[in-house]
Amino acid sequence: MDFGMKNRLARIIKPEDGKTVMLAIDHGYFMGPTGGLENINRSITPLLGYADSLMLTRGILRSQIDAGIDIPVILRASGGTSILKDDLSDEDITVSMDDAIRLNASAIALSVFVGSKNEKQGIVNLSRLVDKGYKYGIPILAVTAVGREMARDARYLSLAVRIAAETGANIVKTYYCEDFEKVVETCPVPVVVAGGKKTGEREVLELAYNAVKHGAAGVDMGRNIFQSENPIGMIKAVRAVVHGRLAPEDAYNAVYKKESD
Ligand code: 5RP
Repeated sequence: MDFGMKNRLARIIKPEDGKTVMLAIDHGYFMGPTGGLENINRSITPLLGYADSLMLTRGILRSQIDAGIDIPVILRASGGTSILKDDLSDEDITVSMDDAIRLNASAIALSVFVGSKNEKQGIVNLSRLVDKGYKYGIPILAVTAVGREMARDARYLSLAVRIAAETGANIVKTYYCEDFEKVVETCPVPVVVAGGKKTGEREVLELAYNAVKHGAAGVDMGRNIFQSENPIGMIKAVRAVVHGRLAPEDAYNAVYKKESD
């Protein structure tokens, strides 16, 4: 691996502890004006100082994010299907490498829908992006998206994550599940977990804690942070769990609640 690739990865996954808190705000590429992302300046700008990286689309990056930010960008580069369709798996690469470089991306993200009817398309798209990523020293983050009909269990997620890593992804994002250690153990590259739909703060801190305990390199989390009643408290609490290994209950009481007072 060349210096550029290693250096970009080190900006995302902190070399001090091998952990990361990625803030994901790319939902609009298929969900439109997602709750909490209607006004990026109001809801997301105050969180940027607490995230290790920011995952988003080029449209939001160009129009809403101050170019002076000191935070690595993970550029969403797949899409093509909206939430209005039953099957979300029909995605292609939607950003050229030229534009990713122009936007100073530290990594490029795309979804692969293993087991879906567009499985091959996703895996081939990933391999094309990996070829280009190595050409220019930009890591590729594969998002193992789960179709509505697919179980989020260790058997399926291990398969999806391993296929993404075998195809060349440098980081793989997936969901937390029971027996999560099996997913991580068989994946040769760092695994990060999504937060999923908004749920209780305590549950999410528990999820982050357990994910890291069972081998995850951290989280790539969106809705459970920016849809929280107290997003700053929540991202600080997630950091305390991921980087500080604070127990979830302590992070909830001493960080999340304290910030709300
Ligand atoms: C969409 C994504 C999102 O970034 C991802 O799901 C993370 O956000 P959340 O924590 O809200 O699930 O990759 O495909």
